[in-house]
Amino acid sequence: MDPLKIALVSSEVAPYAKTGGLADVSAALARYLHRKRHDVRLFMPLYRRVRGQVDLEPVAVLQDIPMKMGERTYWYSISTGRLSKGGPLVWFVRCPELFDREGIYTQDQDEHVRFALLSRAALESCQWTQWAPDIVHCNDWHTGLIPLYLRTLYAWDKLFARTRTVLTIHNIGYQGVVGADALKELSLEGERRFLYQEDLNEGRVNFLKTGILYANALTTVSRTYAREIQGDEHGMGLQALLRQRADSLFGIVNGVDYDEWNPRKDALIPEPFHARDLRGKDLNKKALCERFNLPFDARAPLLGVVSRLTVQKGLELLPDILPVLLHKVDLRLVVLGSGDERYENYFRWLSGAFPKKVAFQSGFDNALAHLIEAGSDMFLMPSRYEPCGLNQMYSQRYGSVPIVRRTGGLADTVSPWNAADGTGTGFLFDEFKPEALLGALERALETWRDEGAWARLVQNGMAQDFSWESRVDEYVALYRKLTPPR
Ligand code: ADP
Ligand code: GLC
Repeated sequence: MDPLKIALVSSEVAPYAKTGGLADVSAALARYLHRKRHDVRLFMPLYRRVRGQVDLEPVAVLQDIPMKMGERTYWYSISTGRLSKGGPLVWFVRCPELFDREGIYTQDQDEHVRFALLSRAALESCQWTQWAPDIVHCNDWHTGLIPLYLRTLYAWDKLFARTRTVLTIHNIGYQGVVGADALKELSLEGERRFLYQEDLNEGRVNFLKTGILYANALTTVSRTYAREIQGDEHGMGLQALLRQRADSLFGIVNGVDYDEWNPRKDALIPEPFHARDLRGKDLNKKALCERFNLPFDARAPLLGVVSRLTVQKGLELLPDILPVLLHKVDLRLVVLGSGDERYENYFRWLSGAFPKKVAFQSGFDNALAHLIEAGSDMFLMPSRYEPCGLNQMYSQRYGSVPIVRRTGGLADTVSPWNAADGTGTGFLFDEFKPEALLGALERALETWRDEGAWARLVQNGMAQDFSWESRVDEYVALYRKLTPPR
Protein backbone atom coordinates (compact mmCIF):
# COMPACT_ATOMS: atom_id res chain seq x y z
CA MET A 1 0.00 0.00 0.00
CA ASP A 2 1.11 3.55 -0.70
CA PRO A 3 2.82 5.38 2.12
CA LEU A 4 0.75 8.15 3.66
CA LYS A 5 1.69 11.80 4.01
CA ILE A 6 1.10 12.74 7.62
CA ALA A 7 1.52 16.15 9.20
CA LEU A 8 1.72 15.78 12.98
CA VAL A 9 1.36 19.02 14.90
CA SER A 10 2.20 19.20 18.58
CA SER A 11 3.10 21.76 21.23
CA GLU A 12 5.55 19.30 22.83
CA VAL A 13 8.07 16.88 21.35
CA ALA A 14 10.63 14.95 23.40
CA PRO A 15 13.45 15.60 23.90
CA TYR A 16 13.23 19.21 22.70
CA ALA A 17 10.29 20.46 24.73
CA LYS A 18 8.50 18.39 27.31
CA THR A 19 6.28 18.98 30.30
CA GLY A 20 4.49 15.64 30.19
CA GLY A 21 3.53 12.58 28.19
CA LEU A 22 2.38 14.48 25.10
CA ALA A 23 6.03 15.06 24.25
CA ASP A 24 6.92 11.36 24.45
CA VAL A 25 3.87 10.35 22.46
CA SER A 26 4.27 12.78 19.56
CA ALA A 27 7.95 11.90 19.23
CA ALA A 28 7.32 8.16 19.34
CA LEU A 29 4.40 8.28 16.94
CA ALA A 30 6.46 10.28 14.41
CA ARG A 31 9.41 7.93 14.78
CA TYR A 32 7.37 4.78 14.30
CA LEU A 33 5.36 6.15 11.36
CA HIS A 34 8.65 7.08 9.74
CA ARG A 35 10.03 3.61 10.45
CA LYS A 36 7.01 2.18 8.66
CA ARG A 37 7.98 4.28 5.65
CA HIS A 38 5.27 6.93 5.88
CA ASP A 39 6.15 10.48 4.92
CA VAL A 40 5.92 12.34 8.24
CA ARG A 41 6.39 16.00 9.04
CA LEU A 42 6.31 16.79 12.72
CA PHE A 43 5.59 20.47 13.41
CA MET A 44 6.44 22.19 16.68
CA PRO A 45 7.42 25.70 17.83
CA LEU A 46 11.05 26.69 17.98
CA TYR A 47 10.97 27.53 21.68
CA ARG A 48 13.98 29.19 23.24
CA ARG A 49 14.92 25.93 24.95
CA VAL A 50 15.22 24.10 21.60
CA ARG A 51 18.21 26.19 20.60
CA GLY A 52 21.47 24.31 20.87
CA GLN A 53 19.71 20.96 21.16
CA VAL A 54 19.59 20.21 17.44
CA ASP A 55 21.25 21.17 14.15
CA LEU A 56 18.79 23.29 12.23
CA GLU A 57 18.53 23.49 8.48
CA PRO A 58 16.50 26.41 7.13
CA VAL A 59 13.92 25.46 4.48
CA ALA A 60 14.71 27.84 1.61
CA VAL A 61 11.17 28.57 0.47
CA LEU A 62 9.98 29.03 4.03
CA GLN A 63 11.90 32.05 5.29
CA ASP A 64 10.36 35.24 6.62
CA ILE A 65 6.80 34.48 5.72
CA PRO A 66 4.23 37.02 6.89
CA MET A 67 1.12 35.88 8.69
CA LYS A 68 -1.60 38.34 9.44
CA MET A 69 -3.47 37.69 12.65
CA GLY A 70 -5.94 40.42 13.40
CA GLU A 71 -4.24 43.80 13.35
CA ARG A 72 -0.77 42.30 13.67
CA THR A 73 1.50 40.67 11.17
CA TYR A 74 3.88 38.03 12.48
CA TRP A 75 6.86 36.75 10.54
CA TYR A 76 7.86 33.13 10.72
CA SER A 77 10.42 30.82 9.15
CA ILE A 78 10.81 27.06 9.10
CA SER A 79 13.94 25.07 9.87
CA THR A 80 14.13 21.32 10.01
CA GLY A 81 16.13 19.02 12.26
CA ARG A 82 16.29 15.24 12.66
CA LEU A 83 14.33 13.89 15.61
CA SER A 84 16.99 11.22 16.06
CA LYS A 85 19.56 9.50 13.90
CA GLY A 86 17.71 8.11 10.90
CA GLY A 87 14.48 9.50 12.31
CA PRO A 88 11.88 11.80 10.77
CA LEU A 89 12.32 15.53 10.31
CA VAL A 90 10.94 17.96 12.82
CA TRP A 91 9.67 21.14 11.20
CA PHE A 92 10.42 23.90 13.68
CA VAL A 93 8.28 27.01 13.41
CA ARG A 94 10.53 29.93 14.18
CA CYS A 95 8.71 33.04 15.30
CA PRO A 96 10.86 34.69 17.99
CA GLU A 97 8.18 37.18 18.86
CA LEU A 98 5.92 34.35 20.03
CA PHE A 99 8.19 31.44 20.89
CA ASP A 100 11.46 32.88 22.13
CA ARG A 101 10.31 32.81 25.74
CA GLU A 102 11.37 31.08 28.92
CA GLY A 103 8.64 28.45 29.12
CA ILE A 104 6.84 26.14 26.73
CA TYR A 105 3.52 27.38 28.01
CA THR A 106 3.02 30.86 29.40
CA GLN A 107 0.43 32.87 31.23
CA ASP A 108 0.88 35.61 28.64
CA GLN A 109 -2.05 37.38 27.01
CA ASP A 110 -1.21 35.99 23.57
CA GLU A 111 -1.02 32.28 24.48
CA HIS A 112 -3.84 31.50 22.02
CA VAL A 113 -2.06 33.44 19.24
CA ARG A 114 1.09 31.37 19.77
CA PHE A 115 -0.66 28.11 19.07
CA ALA A 116 -2.95 29.47 16.36
CA LEU A 117 0.21 30.56 14.57
CA LEU A 118 1.76 27.12 15.00
CA SER A 119 -1.40 25.58 13.52
CA ARG A 120 -1.58 27.92 10.56
CA ALA A 121 2.16 27.80 9.90
CA ALA A 122 1.96 24.00 9.67
CA LEU A 123 -0.77 24.23 7.03
CA GLU A 124 0.88 27.07 5.13
CA SER A 125 4.18 25.18 5.08
CA CYS A 126 2.36 22.39 3.26
CA GLN A 127 1.10 24.96 0.75
CA TRP A 128 4.46 26.62 0.16
CA THR A 129 6.10 23.26 -0.45
CA GLN A 130 3.13 21.85 -2.38
CA TRP A 131 3.00 18.84 -0.10
CA ALA A 132 -0.55 17.53 0.14
CA PRO A 133 -1.02 15.74 3.47
CA ASP A 134 -3.40 12.79 3.60
CA ILE A 135 -3.72 13.36 7.33
CA VAL A 136 -3.18 16.31 9.62
CA HIS A 137 -2.92 14.85 13.08
CA CYS A 138 -3.68 17.44 15.78
CA ASN A 139 -2.92 17.05 19.47
CA ASP A 140 -4.79 18.66 22.35
CA TRP A 141 -6.28 22.16 22.44
CA HIS A 142 -3.23 23.90 20.99
CA THR A 143 -3.91 22.52 17.55
CA GLY A 144 -7.68 22.20 17.91
CA LEU A 145 -8.44 24.94 15.40
CA ILE A 146 -6.73 23.19 12.49
CA PRO A 147 -9.82 21.26 11.31
CA LEU A 148 -11.79 24.50 11.21
CA TYR A 149 -9.00 26.40 9.47
CA LEU A 150 -9.05 23.74 6.76
CA ARG A 151 -12.76 24.26 6.29
CA THR A 152 -12.57 28.03 6.20
CA LEU A 153 -9.33 29.96 5.62
CA TYR A 154 -7.73 27.26 3.52
CA ALA A 155 -10.81 25.70 1.92
CA TRP A 156 -10.00 27.40 -1.37
CA ASP A 157 -6.80 25.38 -1.80
CA LYS A 158 -7.25 22.16 -3.78
CA LEU A 159 -4.02 20.94 -2.18
CA PHE A 160 -6.10 19.99 0.86
CA ALA A 161 -9.01 18.48 -1.08
CA ARG A 162 -8.16 14.97 0.11
CA THR A 163 -6.77 15.95 3.49
CA ARG A 164 -8.49 14.49 6.55
CA THR A 165 -7.96 15.43 10.18
CA VAL A 166 -7.47 13.45 13.38
CA LEU A 167 -7.57 15.13 16.78
CA THR A 168 -6.06 13.26 19.70
CA ILE A 169 -7.29 14.26 23.13
CA HIS A 170 -4.41 13.70 25.52
CA ASN A 171 -6.05 15.60 28.32
CA ILE A 172 -9.54 17.05 28.36
CA GLY A 173 -8.67 19.11 31.43
CA TYR A 174 -7.04 21.73 29.20
CA GLN A 175 -9.39 23.13 26.56
CA GLY A 176 -7.94 26.46 25.49
CA VAL A 177 -10.84 28.74 26.33
CA VAL A 178 -10.44 32.38 25.30
CA GLY A 179 -12.68 35.42 25.07
CA ALA A 180 -14.61 35.81 21.81
CA ASP A 181 -12.79 39.08 21.22
CA ALA A 182 -9.82 36.90 20.23
CA LEU A 183 -11.62 35.79 17.03
CA LYS A 184 -9.95 38.52 15.03
CA GLU A 185 -6.46 37.46 16.08
CA LEU A 186 -7.43 33.89 15.29
CA SER A 187 -8.50 34.96 11.79
CA LEU A 188 -11.96 33.58 12.45
CA GLU A 189 -13.91 36.80 12.79
CA GLY A 190 -15.69 36.14 9.48
CA GLU A 191 -16.41 32.51 10.41
CA ARG A 192 -18.55 32.95 13.48
CA ARG A 193 -21.26 30.70 12.09
CA PHE A 194 -18.92 27.72 12.36
CA LEU A 195 -18.27 28.17 16.04
CA TYR A 196 -20.22 26.74 18.92
CA GLN A 197 -22.98 29.30 19.22
CA GLU A 198 -23.73 28.80 22.89
CA ASP A 199 -20.11 29.61 23.74
CA LEU A 200 -20.03 32.62 21.44
CA ASN A 201 -23.18 33.95 23.08
CA GLU A 202 -21.41 33.70 26.38
CA GLY A 203 -18.40 35.46 24.91
CA ARG A 204 -16.08 32.45 24.64
CA VAL A 205 -14.25 30.34 22.10
CA ASN A 206 -13.06 26.87 23.03
CA PHE A 207 -10.17 25.48 20.95
CA LEU A 208 -10.60 21.84 21.94
CA LYS A 209 -14.35 21.87 21.49
CA THR A 210 -13.95 23.38 18.02
CA GLY A 211 -11.57 20.57 17.16
CA ILE A 212 -14.02 18.00 18.47
CA LEU A 213 -16.71 19.50 16.23
CA TYR A 214 -14.69 19.50 13.04
CA ALA A 215 -11.98 16.83 13.10
CA ASN A 216 -12.81 13.89 10.87
CA ALA A 217 -11.86 11.50 13.63
CA LEU A 218 -11.15 11.83 17.32
CA THR A 219 -8.90 9.63 19.35
CA THR A 220 -7.90 9.55 22.93
CA VAL A 221 -5.09 7.67 24.58
CA SER A 222 -6.84 4.71 26.20
CA ARG A 223 -10.05 2.78 25.75
CA THR A 224 -11.27 3.44 29.25
CA TYR A 225 -10.70 7.20 28.94
CA ALA A 226 -12.56 7.19 25.60
CA ARG A 227 -15.55 5.85 27.51
CA GLU A 228 -15.04 8.03 30.59
CA ILE A 229 -14.98 11.36 28.75
CA GLN A 230 -18.45 10.66 27.42
CA GLY A 231 -19.76 10.71 30.98
CA ASP A 232 -20.46 13.50 33.45
CA GLU A 233 -17.64 12.67 35.86
CA HIS A 234 -14.78 13.01 33.36
CA GLY A 235 -16.21 14.86 30.35
CA MET A 236 -15.37 18.32 31.75
CA GLY A 237 -18.35 19.83 29.97
CA LEU A 238 -17.66 18.19 26.60
CA GLN A 239 -19.41 14.89 27.32
CA ALA A 240 -22.59 15.59 25.33
CA LEU A 241 -20.64 16.62 22.26
CA LEU A 242 -18.40 13.57 22.59
CA ARG A 243 -21.43 11.31 22.84
CA GLN A 244 -22.72 12.82 19.61
CA ARG A 245 -19.43 11.96 17.98
CA ALA A 246 -19.07 8.56 19.62
CA ASP A 247 -18.90 6.78 16.25
CA SER A 248 -15.82 8.78 15.36
CA LEU A 249 -14.11 8.54 18.75
CA PHE A 250 -11.49 5.83 19.26
CA GLY A 251 -9.31 4.84 22.18
CA ILE A 252 -5.75 3.92 21.20
CA VAL A 253 -3.56 3.18 24.19
CA ASN A 254 -0.17 4.91 24.23
CA GLY A 255 2.95 2.85 23.88
CA VAL A 256 6.40 2.98 25.36
CA ASP A 257 9.33 4.13 23.29
CA TYR A 258 11.75 1.34 24.18
CA ASP A 259 14.59 3.25 22.53
CA GLU A 260 14.27 5.71 25.39
CA TRP A 261 12.92 3.56 28.20
CA ASN A 262 14.77 0.27 28.31
CA PRO A 263 16.59 -0.76 31.52
CA ARG A 264 18.89 -3.05 29.54
CA LYS A 265 20.59 -0.16 27.70
CA ASP A 266 19.56 2.97 29.53
CA ALA A 267 22.52 5.37 29.51
CA LEU A 268 20.85 7.54 32.16
CA ILE A 269 21.01 4.95 34.93
CA PRO A 270 24.20 3.80 36.70
CA GLU A 271 23.50 0.07 36.40
CA PRO A 272 21.62 -1.35 33.43
CA PHE A 273 19.68 -4.55 34.21
CA HIS A 274 17.17 -6.96 32.76
CA ALA A 275 14.55 -9.44 33.86
CA ARG A 276 16.94 -12.39 34.22
CA ASP A 277 19.51 -10.46 36.19
CA LEU A 278 18.13 -7.92 38.61
CA ARG A 279 21.31 -7.23 40.56
CA GLY A 280 21.55 -3.87 38.81
CA LYS A 281 18.19 -2.92 40.22
CA ASP A 282 19.48 -2.94 43.79
CA LEU A 283 22.54 -0.91 42.78
CA ASN A 284 20.29 1.70 41.21
CA LYS A 285 18.25 1.77 44.39
CA LYS A 286 21.43 2.34 46.36
CA ALA A 287 22.50 5.12 43.98
CA LEU A 288 19.13 6.77 44.33
CA CYS A 289 19.34 6.64 48.14
CA GLU A 290 22.86 8.01 48.12
CA ARG A 291 21.87 10.88 45.89
CA PHE A 292 19.34 11.99 48.49
CA ASN A 293 21.22 10.94 51.63
CA LEU A 294 18.65 8.35 52.50
CA PRO A 295 20.02 5.32 54.36
CA PHE A 296 19.91 2.36 51.99
CA ASP A 297 18.31 -0.85 53.20
CA ALA A 298 17.49 -3.51 50.62
CA ARG A 299 14.60 -4.72 52.80
CA ALA A 300 12.94 -1.32 53.05
CA PRO A 301 10.79 -0.79 49.96
CA LEU A 302 11.41 2.39 48.01
CA LEU A 303 8.38 4.15 46.56
CA GLY A 304 8.83 6.48 43.61
CA VAL A 305 6.74 9.34 42.26
CA VAL A 306 7.51 11.27 39.05
CA SER A 307 4.71 13.62 38.26
CA ARG A 308 3.42 16.97 37.19
CA LEU A 309 2.12 18.29 40.48
CA THR A 310 -1.44 19.14 39.50
CA VAL A 311 -4.86 18.29 40.79
CA GLN A 312 -5.15 15.59 38.09
CA LYS A 313 -2.56 13.42 39.76
CA GLY A 314 -4.52 12.74 42.95
CA LEU A 315 -1.72 13.59 45.35
CA GLU A 316 -4.08 15.06 47.90
CA LEU A 317 -4.86 11.50 48.92
CA LEU A 318 -1.41 11.32 50.48
CA PRO A 319 -1.41 13.70 53.49
CA ASP A 320 -4.06 11.66 55.32
CA ILE A 321 -2.11 8.44 55.14
CA LEU A 322 1.60 9.04 54.58
CA PRO A 323 2.72 10.36 57.98
CA VAL A 324 1.14 7.45 59.84
CA LEU A 325 2.47 4.94 57.36
CA LEU A 326 5.95 6.46 57.53
CA HIS A 327 5.91 6.20 61.32
CA LYS A 328 4.81 2.58 61.19
CA VAL A 329 6.73 1.12 58.27
CA ASP A 330 10.37 1.36 57.28
CA LEU A 331 10.08 2.58 53.75
CA ARG A 332 11.60 5.22 51.47
CA LEU A 333 9.75 7.70 49.32
CA VAL A 334 11.40 9.70 46.53
CA VAL A 335 9.29 12.32 44.78
CA LEU A 336 10.26 14.25 41.65
CA GLY A 337 7.82 16.81 40.38
CA SER A 338 7.01 20.34 39.58
CA GLY A 339 3.79 22.25 39.48
CA ASP A 340 1.37 23.74 42.00
CA GLU A 341 3.06 25.23 44.99
CA ARG A 342 0.80 23.56 47.52
CA TYR A 343 2.02 20.11 46.50
CA GLU A 344 5.62 21.25 46.40
CA ASN A 345 5.24 22.71 49.88
CA TYR A 346 3.69 19.53 51.13
CA PHE A 347 6.48 17.29 49.88
CA ARG A 348 9.09 19.72 51.13
CA TRP A 349 7.48 19.60 54.54
CA LEU A 350 7.23 15.81 54.46
CA SER A 351 10.90 15.37 53.59
CA GLY A 352 11.78 17.71 56.46
CA ALA A 353 9.61 15.72 58.86
CA PHE A 354 11.06 12.35 57.72
CA PRO A 355 14.58 13.20 56.53
CA LYS A 356 15.74 9.57 56.63
CA LYS A 357 12.76 8.27 54.73
CA VAL A 358 11.50 10.91 52.31
CA ALA A 359 13.23 12.95 49.62
CA PHE A 360 11.70 15.53 47.33
CA GLN A 361 13.17 17.21 44.30
CA SER A 362 11.27 19.97 42.62
CA GLY A 363 11.74 20.72 38.93
CA PHE A 364 11.99 18.76 35.71
CA ASP A 365 14.86 16.27 35.46
CA ASN A 366 14.71 13.53 32.85
CA ALA A 367 17.79 11.65 34.07
CA LEU A 368 16.44 11.55 37.60
CA ALA A 369 13.08 10.32 36.28
CA HIS A 370 14.94 7.36 34.77
CA LEU A 371 16.85 6.72 37.98
CA ILE A 372 13.64 6.75 40.01
CA GLU A 373 12.05 4.18 37.69
CA ALA A 374 15.17 2.04 37.95
CA GLY A 375 15.78 2.45 41.68
CA SER A 376 12.28 2.21 43.10
CA ASP A 377 10.43 -0.94 44.10
CA MET A 378 6.96 0.56 43.81
CA PHE A 379 5.62 3.43 41.75
CA LEU A 380 2.76 5.54 43.00
CA MET A 381 0.12 7.06 40.69
CA PRO A 382 -3.13 7.71 42.53
CA SER A 383 -4.54 9.86 39.70
CA ARG A 384 -7.96 11.46 39.94
CA TYR A 385 -8.14 10.95 36.18
CA GLU A 386 -5.51 9.69 33.77
CA PRO A 387 -6.05 9.70 30.00
CA CYS A 388 -3.31 7.12 29.60
CA GLY A 389 -0.29 7.69 31.81
CA LEU A 390 3.15 6.56 30.77
CA ASN A 391 5.01 6.16 34.03
CA GLN A 392 3.04 3.12 35.11
CA MET A 393 4.18 1.43 31.90
CA TYR A 394 7.78 2.60 32.25
CA SER A 395 7.81 1.40 35.84
CA GLN A 396 6.64 -2.08 34.88
CA ARG A 397 9.49 -2.38 32.40
CA TYR A 398 11.90 -1.17 35.10
CA GLY A 399 10.66 -3.69 37.66
CA SER A 400 8.93 -1.09 39.81
CA VAL A 401 5.43 -2.24 40.74
CA PRO A 402 2.71 0.34 40.03
CA ILE A 403 0.15 1.27 42.67
CA VAL A 404 -2.55 3.13 40.79
CA ARG A 405 -6.15 4.22 40.82
CA ARG A 406 -8.35 2.25 38.45
CA THR A 407 -9.08 5.07 35.99
CA GLY A 408 -8.38 5.82 32.32
CA GLY A 409 -5.24 4.28 30.93
CA LEU A 410 -4.14 3.09 34.36
CA ALA A 411 -7.06 0.66 34.32
CA ASP A 412 -6.05 -0.52 30.85
CA THR A 413 -2.36 -1.07 31.50
CA VAL A 414 -2.06 -2.36 35.08
CA SER A 415 -3.69 -5.65 36.05
CA PRO A 416 -4.34 -6.50 39.68
CA TRP A 417 -1.94 -8.87 41.44
CA ASN A 418 -3.65 -12.14 42.24
CA ALA A 419 -1.74 -14.06 44.90
CA ALA A 420 -3.75 -17.24 44.28
CA ASP A 421 -2.51 -17.78 40.75
CA GLY A 422 0.47 -15.42 40.61
CA THR A 423 -0.95 -13.22 37.85
CA GLY A 424 -1.11 -9.45 37.63
CA THR A 425 1.32 -6.56 37.50
CA GLY A 426 0.31 -4.09 40.20
CA PHE A 427 -2.15 -2.87 42.81
CA LEU A 428 -5.29 -0.93 42.01
CA PHE A 429 -7.93 0.91 44.00
CA ASP A 430 -11.24 2.38 42.91
CA GLU A 431 -12.66 5.06 45.14
CA PHE A 432 -10.90 8.40 45.21
CA LYS A 433 -10.41 8.20 48.98
CA PRO A 434 -7.31 8.00 51.18
CA GLU A 435 -8.56 4.73 52.76
CA ALA A 436 -8.80 3.13 49.33
CA LEU A 437 -5.24 4.11 48.45
CA LEU A 438 -4.07 2.93 51.87
CA GLY A 439 -5.71 -0.44 51.20
CA ALA A 440 -3.73 -0.81 47.96
CA LEU A 441 -0.51 0.26 49.69
CA GLU A 442 -1.04 -2.26 52.47
CA ARG A 443 -1.64 -5.04 49.98
CA ALA A 444 1.57 -4.03 48.20
CA LEU A 445 3.57 -3.96 51.45
CA GLU A 446 2.24 -7.33 52.48
CA THR A 447 3.21 -8.82 49.13
CA TRP A 448 6.65 -7.18 49.42
CA ARG A 449 7.30 -9.26 52.54
CA ASP A 450 6.75 -12.44 50.52
CA GLU A 451 9.93 -12.54 48.46
CA GLY A 452 8.77 -15.23 46.05
CA ALA A 453 5.49 -13.50 45.33
CA TRP A 454 7.24 -10.17 44.83
CA ALA A 455 9.75 -11.64 42.40
CA ARG A 456 6.91 -13.07 40.37
CA LEU A 457 5.06 -9.76 40.36
CA VAL A 458 8.14 -7.92 39.14
CA GLN A 459 8.69 -10.49 36.38
CA ASN A 460 5.07 -10.19 35.27
CA GLY A 461 5.46 -6.44 34.87
CA MET A 462 8.80 -6.64 33.08
CA ALA A 463 7.36 -9.13 30.60
CA GLN A 464 4.60 -6.77 29.44
CA ASP A 465 4.85 -5.53 25.89
CA PHE A 466 3.79 -1.90 25.60
CA SER A 467 5.74 -1.23 22.42
CA TRP A 468 4.59 1.30 19.84
CA GLU A 469 4.89 -1.28 17.09
CA SER A 470 1.25 -2.39 17.24
CA ARG A 471 -0.15 0.95 18.44
CA VAL A 472 1.12 2.64 15.34
CA ASP A 473 -0.72 0.10 13.20
CA GLU A 474 -3.94 1.17 14.89
CA TYR A 475 -3.29 4.79 13.95
CA VAL A 476 -2.39 3.85 10.39
CA ALA A 477 -5.55 1.76 10.05
CA LEU A 478 -7.57 4.77 11.19
CA TYR A 479 -5.73 7.12 8.80
CA ARG A 480 -6.44 4.73 5.92
CA LYS A 481 -10.09 4.43 6.83
CA LEU A 482 -10.38 8.22 6.63
CA THR A 483 -8.43 8.68 3.41
CA PRO A 484 -10.73 8.80 0.36
CA PRO A 485 -9.96 6.25 -2.39
CA ARG A 486 -7.89 7.64 -5.23
P1 ADP B 1 1.20 13.57 32.00
O1 ADP B 1 1.37 13.70 30.53
O2 ADP B 1 -0.19 13.76 32.45
O3 ADP B 1 2.14 14.42 32.76
P2 ADP B 1 2.27 10.86 31.67
O4 ADP B 1 2.44 9.77 32.65
O5 ADP B 1 1.62 10.52 30.39
O6 ADP B 1 1.54 12.06 32.41
O7 ADP B 1 3.69 11.41 31.24
C1 ADP B 1 4.53 12.07 32.08
C2 ADP B 1 5.90 12.09 31.43
O8 ADP B 1 6.60 13.22 31.92
C3 ADP B 1 6.74 10.90 31.79
O9 ADP B 1 7.65 10.64 30.75
C4 ADP B 1 7.47 11.36 33.05
O10 ADP B 1 8.66 10.68 33.26
C5 ADP B 1 7.71 12.80 32.71
N1 ADP B 1 7.80 13.71 33.85
C6 ADP B 1 6.79 14.25 34.56
N2 ADP B 1 7.26 15.08 35.52
C7 ADP B 1 8.60 15.06 35.39
C8 ADP B 1 9.67 15.71 36.09
N3 ADP B 1 9.44 16.54 37.09
N4 ADP B 1 10.93 15.46 35.69
C9 ADP B 1 11.18 14.60 34.67
N5 ADP B 1 10.22 13.96 33.99
C10 ADP B 1 8.95 14.19 34.34
C1 GLC C 1 -1.61 13.67 28.98
C2 GLC C 1 -2.24 12.78 30.00
C3 GLC C 1 -1.52 11.47 30.17
C4 GLC C 1 -1.12 10.89 28.82
C5 GLC C 1 -0.32 11.91 28.04
C6 GLC C 1 0.12 11.43 26.68
O1 GLC C 1 -0.99 14.79 29.41
O2 GLC C 1 -2.41 13.41 31.24
O3 GLC C 1 -2.34 10.57 30.86
O4 GLC C 1 -0.37 9.72 28.99
O5 GLC C 1 -1.08 13.07 27.84
O6 GLC C 1 -0.95 10.99 25.88
